[in-house]
Amino acid sequence: MPFYSDDIIEEVRSRNDIVDVISQYVHLQKKGSSYFGLCPFHNEKTGSFSVTPSKQMYYCFGCGAGGNVFTFLMNYENFTFSEAMEALADRAGISLPKQEMTGAARAEADKRNQLFEINREAATYFYSLLRSEKGKFAHDYFVKRELSPETMQKFGLGYSDKYSDDLYRYLRGKGYTDDVLKDSGLITIDEKRGAHDKFWNRAMFPIMDPNSKVVAFGGRVMGEGEPKYLNSPETMIFNKSRTLYGLHIARRTKKEQFILCEGYMDVIALHQAGFDNAIASLGTALTSGHANMIKRYGKDVYLSYDSDGAGTKAALRAIPILKEAGITCKVINMHPYKDPDEFIKNLGQEAYQQRIDQAENSFMFTLRILERDYNMKDPESKTKFYHEVANRILEFPDELERNNYIEAVASKYQVGFEQMRQMVNRMGTKVGLASEPKPLKSGVQKKQTREDGMMKSQRLMLTWLVEQPSLYQGVKAYLVPEDFTEGIYAKVAGELFSQFEEADGVNPAKIVSMFADEEQQRQVAEIFNTSVDGIEKQADFEKAIKETLLRIKQNSMEQKQRNLDPTDMAGLSQMIEDKRRLQELEKLHISLK
Ligand code: UTP
Ligand code: MN
Repeated sequence: MPFYSDDIIEEVRSRNDIVDVISQYVHLQKKGSSYFGLCPFHNEKTGSFSVTPSKQMYYCFGCGAGGNVFTFLMNYENFTFSEAMEALADRAGISLPKQEMTGAARAEADKRNQLFEINREAATYFYSLLRSEKGKFAHDYFVKRELSPETMQKFGLGYSDKYSDDLYRYLRGKGYTDDVLKDSGLITIDEKRGAHDKFWNRAMFPIMDPNSKVVAFGGRVMGEGEPKYLNSPETMIFNKSRTLYGLHIARRTKKEQFILCEGYMDVIALHQAGFDNAIASLGTALTSGHANMIKRYGKDVYLSYDSDGAGTKAALRAIPILKEAGITCKVINMHPYKDPDEFIKNLGQEAYQQRIDQAENSFMFTLRILERDYNMKDPESKTKFYHEVANRILEFPDELERNNYIEAVASKYQVGFEQMRQMVNRMGTKVGLASEPKPLKSGVQKKQTREDGMMKSQRLMLTWLVEQPSLYQGVKAYLVPEDFTEGIYAKVAGELFSQFEEADGVNPAKIVSMFADEEQQRQVAEIFNTSVDGIEKQADFEKAIKETLLRIKQNSMEQKQRNLDPTDMAGLSQMIEDKRRLQELEKLHISLK
């Protein structure tokens, strides 16, 4: 992980105007002192996405996305911080200090780059073969599966020739050595038999990483044959349990969920039908690595696994993994068809959309499958089923949530709500259900939605200070950074106050860069983009500032008082002094200007 100095970070940031950069991705229009457009991070019809040149920050009033120019690229392109630095340095013509790498690290980086190149070369080669005379049969196969030329192009589909060392000879011709070729996963080199292609005479599906770089392939026999699909083995650049097919396109969807399915053809058929949010874990069961990838994009999931026994089993395994990562998932019923590809071919896009709209809650899905193991006509078996259900309801840490599920179960399985609730509670006391919700193992907690008035007051004050720097002198007579008590607010206020004291002046976008975490960067943007309605006149504004200041100070003093050691004399007298000045401010018409 390259490490850059604060100075170079700030230079790169300040030489990339945020309006110019974001304009490359979002159509912006000037309104007052800011620019507005449709938010690229959530689906909306009226633009609540703002970019403010004076702050060099963006903020969406709809979904709360925000930050500086680095945050934008990290979120939009899914770049790491280093990648955003490199891209923006490049854009501004700044050369970054070269990172000193050890010999081994250098060699590894070179190898990775070569593997990316080889996969790209192979993809281009397969792609052109598909469109040549040699690839006619494969091309017909794709056409028979109703793929349009645009779809074939979009997914870079190709064909591997019927000679088993065709690709090998092609790549050798490009100058790659056996040594690197055997690490690409595309060629096996055998002492006795020589070099062989992994894929020959197959319809080829390149597998891309989220940045659209080819990292591996899947190859399908055309027609019947075993194995149906061959996949690249894991390599330095291909980690199966973190790769999701279709993600390089789906990551740009404006929908709030991904459709998670099983196969290549499912993803492709869904995209062709306009579902730009389809992805698949390929040939492997879903792992927590996959779930964390999905979580990174902030999406929930519609499961669209095959409706056969194997698909149902895979779904039952995937649901807890998604849940553990904090992802809500619903299950799409494709009956009477096997997979999304078949479903759409037969019933079309609108029917599939209806199935999405009717998707089943994953817990209720799990119960519906569980019920198959019990004979609901037999009282004993039926009782066991209810016990098992009650047992599973206990896994919800929140009482309200438990009650909601009890209600759903009661109405679906004809059992009294109270009876079910008592059963759950009895079991709960038996296993010692704590009243405190137990934290999820992954550490992912539900996002708090509580919009605290005090947080808003503190944000408002900081926004006002940035937008009207002349307020600072008046405000600093009453407030210190520690009065901003919420989370990172004190740190942000501290930085802002010291910027006021320095010659260079206020620079909120620089404060964003001081936080490494994207969520914290978003919070900084939120802090500096807070507003309230109903302040039209200057007199109203002055009143609002004063009231906000009082609220913040009062809150901070109450907190202090609670924590004050009664023997701390200096602390006590400071407190009395603060109180006196606060009362003064409250009573007198002191102007802060
Ligand atoms: P399916 O057999 O359901 O694939 O396997 P599919 O995409 O619907 O195939 P078509 O429609 O017959 O062409 C689901 C996924 O499991 C992996 C592949 O990733 C496939 O897309 N798989 C399947 C293999 O890796 N190897 C196999 O032999 C079969
Ligand atoms: Mn299929």
